Amino acid sequence: MKKQMHSEPAHPWQDKRLTPDERARLVVTAMTEDEKFAWLSAPIAVPIPGRPPIPDGALGSAAFYPPIERLGIPGIQQSDASLGVVNPGGVREGDEATALPSSLLLGATFDTETARETGALLGRQARAQGFAVLLAGGANLVREATGGRNFEYVGEDPLLTGRLVGASVAAIQAEGVVSTVKHFSLNAQETGRVMADSRIEEAAHRESDLLAFQIAIEEGRPGSVMPGYNLVNGHYAGENAHLINGVLKGEWQFEGWVMSDWGATHSTEKAALAGLDVQSGADFDAEHYFGEPLRAAVREGRVPPERIDDMVHRQLRTLFRLGVIDNPPTPGGPIDLAAGRRIAQRAAERGLVLLKNEADTLPAAQGLDHILVIGRHADAGVLAGGGSSAVTPKGSLVEPSGFDRVWSDRVHHPSSPLEAIRAEAGAGRVDFLDGTDHDAAVAAAEGADLVVILAEEWRAEGLDLPGVGLPDGQEDLIEKVAAANPRTVVVIESGGAVSVPWASKVPAVIAAFYPGIGGAEAIAGVLFGRVNPSGRLPVTFPAHVGQLPRPEQWDPATTTSNPNQERIGEIFEVPYDIEGSDVGYRWFAREEHTPHYPFGWGLSYTTFAFSGLTVTADGADVRVRGVVTNTGTREGAAVPQVYVGRACQDGADFVPRLAAFDRVHLEAGQSRSVELCLEPRVLARWDDVDGAFHIAGGDYEVRIGAHALDEDGPTQTIKLATSLLH
Ligand code: BGC
Repeated sequence: MKKQMHSEPAHPWQDKRLTPDERARLVVTAMTEDEKFAWLSAPIAVPIPGRPPIPDGALGSAAFYPPIERLGIPGIQQSDASLGVVNPGGVREGDEATALPSSLLLGATFDTETARETGALLGRQARAQGFAVLLAGGANLVREATGGRNFEYVGEDPLLTGRLVGASVAAIQAEGVVSTVKHFSLNAQETGRVMADSRIEEAAHRESDLLAFQIAIEEGRPGSVMPGYNLVNGHYAGENAHLINGVLKGEWQFEGWVMSDWGATHSTEKAALAGLDVQSGADFDAEHYFGEPLRAAVREGRVPPERIDDMVHRQLRTLFRLGVIDNPPTPGGPIDLAAGRRIAQRAAERGLVLLKNEADTLPAAQGLDHILVIGRHADAGVLAGGGSSAVTPKGSLVEPSGFDRVWSDRVHHPSSPLEAIRAEAGAGRVDFLDGTDHDAAVAAAEGADLVVILAEEWRAEGLDLPGVGLPDGQEDLIEKVAAANPRTVVVIESGGAVSVPWASKVPAVIAAFYPGIGGAEAIAGVLFGRVNPSGRLPVTFPAHVGQLPRPEQWDPATTTSNPNQERIGEIFEVPYDIEGSDVGYRWFAREEHTPHYPFGWGLSYTTFAFSGLTVTADGADVRVRGVVTNTGTREGAAVPQVYVGRACQDGADFVPRLAAFDRVHLEAGQSRSVELCLEPRVLARWDDVDGAFHIAGGDYEVRIGAHALDEDGPTQTIKLATSLLH
């Protein structure tokens, strides 16, 4: 019999029987100081004219950390982001990835399954392109309707955001790629984002943005977390000891590493001692803080050497846990763009929101004689947001942004609404106008059987919008065309909530957000009924800007919005205690503002009913049961939403909050029993004295709402006992 050969691993850490923690410790023990410091900071790894070339081995992306060949540790390549694997400026020739719908559209699906499907796609494509770390996982709450990056976030509610980001992160990481939850925390506006000091009381923060991060981190177990550019209560997020060491690494026991945003590090020992592990995009900072200054701080005893080991250990432990070191990603893997497009389209089909549908205008009949499509780029493609998350597939329409403060172009993904409508409309004539000439649009609209206007609103990183209306005279265009033809349907491609003062003039409106590479096909599917719309608004559409907590805008000319730019003016405070934890619909409910369309709103081509509501409570374990029925004539997805409010008792009252949601697919006439567990922290208030969420004993109203402000759904009052949640 042949003797079994056992080859000894070349390095002790290669023994897979050891835990990730033990393996990481062995590597750290073997590392030299230079090897450790090579993993503590890096410049952006995209070639920039006038800068030193990117290092050998870097693929061309947000960051590259070199291999430690002596120890058999692979190099780590990092890439943006949540909407697809970014190829900045096309530096990686031939590398193409799927452009997913915006995160807001994902939010509109109210569907963790879609988050998992798109997350898995992201992870697979990142790995196939050689990336071990994706900077994907935007978990900020949409606090400002005008925010330039709202399309990168899931919505205004902490439970919806936490659950969907958590599901996406878990799915990315199941593919053996680290995901990065960002931008921790309160990075809610772009104007002056590197100078803005987000001010909020602890309790309000815990019940809102921090709750979104907490749930996302519990459910997704991300390998890394990225603090934002902004300050939080007087300290830059990247050197905020309370947030990083206190909340994240302390209370939440986060075991991964904390990397700064690119050019968002402002100190050496303050940042290192606050818990920042990596200075990313160090060439954008005033100093190379985590280079020589950090070495000096260690030599001089200002930063303990164990902190340096901890910074490296956290990275290695995570990379072992997710299999990156045993099985490093290598570029050149297969990418199935056709399959990716199908996944992107399916996600868009689940997230498009039918806002209005008077007299069953939609779905439009097939075989209409004459359809007119109007829209600036409705022949070419669907709009995408700008900035570090932008994915630009081959065939995209790329135009300069027209803003010198924005470094990205204005991109339309190659998914043509005109062509998609032609494909679904049947035999009739489909004409196109770009709508810049209003008179021509009105004249052409007059005889048409159906007019579809694709309205556009572009947003980008570094640039907030001046207001919430559609720009470039589109409101006027819609009003004029609608006056000429009552069968005018508006599809809004936007990076967030917009005001729709013209909505009463048209019979049907669809919110498409930025719908990604299969977006036009999804839109046409909803227009002609192949798809039954099932999205629900993840953000409230205000009636006008005056309803917002901060209707006034900072003048972008008086402050600096981007890193690596000359500082203008002083650090300024943004008062988030105006709305506190009542972000979005909660603010509207508290102030008794009537928005145009509230959070959770969305119509279907069928109808649903919720019956047999029962609510039970066993301590903080509160469950809602009932039966959802499709009472209409075609299949569709219901989105039961459970809102819980507490009526004025002991000053512990609060307006209804989303405490659970589900998405249930039902054939016509079909019923299904559902059981939803309410998130206990949503029923609680943060108690500063106990340092914990606290459910006040008393009566709570539990309601199934068609949207956040729906007061007519089935309701039950339940008594909860006082409890502290740990
Ligand atoms: C963004 C991050 C991004 C990073 C790297 C920054 O400008 O705020 O979200 O991950 O750049 O590209």
